[in-house]
Amino acid sequence: MSNRLQRFLVTGGAGFIGSAFIRMGLLRIPDCAHIVNLDLLTYAANLNNLSEVAHDPRYVFVQGDVRDEALVDKLIREHNIDAIVHFAAESHVDRSILGPRSFYDTNVGGTLSLLEVVRRHPQVHFHQISTDEVFGSLAEVGCFTETSPYLPNSPYSASKAAADHFVRSYAHTYGISTSISYCTNNYGPYQYVEKLIPRMIAALTQEKPLPIYGKGDNVRDWIYVDDHVDALWKILAKKPLNAIYGIGGECEKKNVDVVHCIVDRFAALHNRSSEPLRALIAHVEDRLGHDQRYAIDCTKIKREIDWHPKHDFASGIEKTIAWYLKHPERLVL
Ligand SMILES: NC(=O)c1ccc[n+]([C@@H]2O[C@H](COP(=O)([O-])OP(=O)(O)OC[C@H]3O[C@@H](n4cnc5c(N)ncnc54)[C@H](O)[C@@H]3O)[C@@H](O)[C@H]2O)c1
Repeated sequence: MSNRLQRFLVTGGAGFIGSAFIRMGLLRIPDCAHIVNLDLLTYAANLNNLSEVAHDPRYVFVQGDVRDEALVDKLIREHNIDAIVHFAAESHVDRSILGPRSFYDTNVGGTLSLLEVVRRHPQVHFHQISTDEVFGSLAEVGCFTETSPYLPNSPYSASKAAADHFVRSYAHTYGISTSISYCTNNYGPYQYVEKLIPRMIAALTQEKPLPIYGKGDNVRDWIYVDDHVDALWKILAKKPLNAIYGIGGECEKKNVDVVHCIVDRFAALHNRSSEPLRALIAHVEDRLGHDQRYAIDCTKIKREIDWHPKHDFASGIEKTIAWYLKHPERLVL
């Protein structure tokens, strides 16, 4: 393996976080010599997320399934790939509750297929994009760390946890080079409208009810997507052998407070009072098995990689709302 990772196969790169990773790589990372984006283009994908870099000679898009081992094998050979960065997944918890099977097939089966191919190409590093949700739900105090026990509660987090276990087992059993990062809730431009923040912005633009699960007191740690992908590029620059890192925004908020922030910012941008917009908040029946709180302790990545989140919620949400208001086509479900 060369000293630095330079040629990447990114899976799920037409989705929200994968596309931010590719944009940052091609626009800002000197080591990034080549990126192949393998994406099936499910409902969550949008190739417009990559219009800024689509004509970069270092970028290649391939529509295909991560479970297609022959295709992945061919891409690794043809493009002389150094590392796979694995974002592709079914990612929406509500959909996993309605239909867990596709989460098993894509998230577990897809990861296993990629690992099988890497087993035949042991020079290729494999980075697994995981989530803090694999650790389950926290009480009011304390944070998850890289050594927290896996206690997934939703079909989505169970599928991500199972995938992580396969990554760990392949490193241990076959000696392949892997790393895993566990990130908290991402927000920012280009996120598919079904997720909380764009859904609220969409409802506000139409002055429709703002649905919040239960009391809205579930707590998430919010990270601006560029801070997440900055951490990933910094981890990959170290070519980490079997490393694991928690990545968080150090920005815990109750869901209802997130919605209040969005309403207030939206009202300010439109030079109007928040009160009538706050009145649109509608508490709806809670999500089944809804985890109460997630938070990650980022001490390890700060110490070892010299990374910290650069966006606070006020600046991140301002950029996010401004972007969606300029792209109303992205607010249609
Ligand atoms: N969004 C978050 O807050 C968050 C937080 C932590 C971790 N993660 C993880 O980050 C990764 C990316 O999340 P996201 O929010 O960008 O998801 P997303 O739903 O926006 O994008 C997923 C992408 O994967 C692609 N895909 C799905 N199945 C595929 C398959 N079989 N083969 C190839 N491509 C396929 C889709 O077409 C889509 O482009 C996921 O693994 C998710 O579990 C997300």
